[in-house]
Amino acid sequence: MSSSHFRDSNQPASAGRNPVGSAYSRGMQSEGVTTPKSADSGHQETIVVIDFGSQYSRLIARRIRESSVYCELIPHSAPWEMVESLNPKGVVLSGGPASVYENGAPLAPDWVYESGLPILGICYGMQAMVHQLGGKVAPASRREYGYAELLQDEPSDAIFDGTPESMQVWMSHGDHISELPPGFSTLAHTDNSPIAALGDGNGRLGIQFHPEVVHTPKGRQLIENFLYKICGCSGAWTPGNFVAETVESIRRQVGDGKVICALSGGVDSAVAATLVHRAIGDRLTCIFVNNGLMRHQEPERVQETFEKHMAMNLSYVDASEHFLGALRAVTDPEKKRRIIGEEFINVFEGEASRLGRVDFLAQGTLYPDVIESQVPGDDVSAKIKTHHNVGGLPDHMRMELVEPLRYLFKDEVREVGMELGLPREMIFRQPFPGPGLAIRIIGEITHESLETLREADRILMEEIEANGLYDDLWQSFAVLTNSRSVGVTGDFRTYGNVIAIRAVTSDDAMTADWARIPYDVLARVSNRICNEAPNVNRVVYDITSKPPGTIEWE
Ligand code: XMP
Repeated sequence: MSSSHFRDSNQPASAGRNPVGSAYSRGMQSEGVTTPKSADSGHQETIVVIDFGSQYSRLIARRIRESSVYCELIPHSAPWEMVESLNPKGVVLSGGPASVYENGAPLAPDWVYESGLPILGICYGMQAMVHQLGGKVAPASRREYGYAELLQDEPSDAIFDGTPESMQVWMSHGDHISELPPGFSTLAHTDNSPIAALGDGNGRLGIQFHPEVVHTPKGRQLIENFLYKICGCSGAWTPGNFVAETVESIRRQVGDGKVICALSGGVDSAVAATLVHRAIGDRLTCIFVNNGLMRHQEPERVQETFEKHMAMNLSYVDASEHFLGALRAVTDPEKKRRIIGEEFINVFEGEASRLGRVDFLAQGTLYPDVIESQVPGDDVSAKIKTHHNVGGLPDHMRMELVEPLRYLFKDEVREVGMELGLPREMIFRQPFPGPGLAIRIIGEITHESLETLREADRILMEEIEANGLYDDLWQSFAVLTNSRSVGVTGDFRTYGNVIAIRAVTSDDAMTADWARIPYDVLARVSNRICNEAPNVNRVVYDITSKPPGTIEWE
């Protein structure tokens, strides 16, 4: 499990919160969907991270949150009106793959410099700032990649508080600063970069290295110096504050209305439901939809856990035949997701009219889902997959979304779950995607393919748990591939299905590595699947990290 994003859950709830949700997200519009009208994101101060497209941008955001300060990643095209309502305390300009002297290289918007906010430019972000403020950036004679020794020229600068005058940092750049902008001085250098850190003594700083990666051991201290000593943040981003503020904002959003909440059995929807329940009590009804795409005995387990631990209204809907009918002969992954999304909406609408005047639908959408789905107007992040729970609601649907977790990373959700007193088995359950087994069956979904996959997956999970691996894995599951292979069982030739095993470690699903499961466990899994799952004669282990793969196969 990754380190805490919240510093201390016992700090008092903060006063004077920002009364609006994310201006940035409220500004989003896309074809065929309405703007998600989410509950407030529950922050009273924000660090704004301008994303220039570095592989590390999201890591910067995570690090800032780990230091108890709320932050949001925004595209460099975001106008000041969107940012202002976030109550920004400072701006981080992220790294990025471009060179500032290339045509069309992204630059920071003017408001960054006009607002007077403290700025921390990291790598490309520093170069953009230098370029925009009248300094010079040039290609370095040698690319610098990897560890470097940083030597401080101005050790008394606040950014260096609590750090040694010489320390290890992680570099990854081709360009360097050849001339300081007016008013700036060099704060530190390395062998290769005469200007590896710079500042104007007025809260504007640039660093050539990456403080967000573990290879910069004092990186956290540097980030916290920026947040607390330079931006004057108060560190109010704690689970206790989040719960108190979110409950309040849900009350404000919902008024005396009724809410339905889609429950999946995972931690996200359980935490979302619990927050809504705290806010409005019995005006919340949870709906658990059996879509026919769940793991072995999952519908039974979800109902049991829910009844045992959550004293809320629950409506169980078995819509499996509807879903499977709508998915008949569909093989395209995005089409599967779209159909499943539509079917869920149909069920929710049916339940809403059965319950009489329900105006709100609560969902456990998370920040990575939001970032990974296309953000219109964001020219930096490319669309990866459509998360069916992100795009807002169809135009014809009159319910408004309540998404209390829309700005949280997964481990923050788990911490909120603990704060709310949810059971461990729920909080640390491995994530399971909304479209379920549909995106783990490559090709058409049939009763037979579901049965084969469920059996293979059941065996895998039994072995993962029996061997004490469950908690170390972000996710582990079986995939039914669309390959057939020749095998031999007894004296007979077989032509059967190929099952792939996927098991990954990860902090937040944005990146992941394939898990080094012990060979003897893999051997047992393979043996059992070939013997016990119908029509399977081959098992392969997926050794792809993310990137370049994704966690799910579709
Ligand atoms: P990928 O496959 O994109 O998955 O690396 C990242 C995380 O998201 C889950 N996932 C989904 N969750 N609807 C969901 O609710 C989806 O369409 C979806 N696709 C992937 C996946 O299981 C992993 O945890």
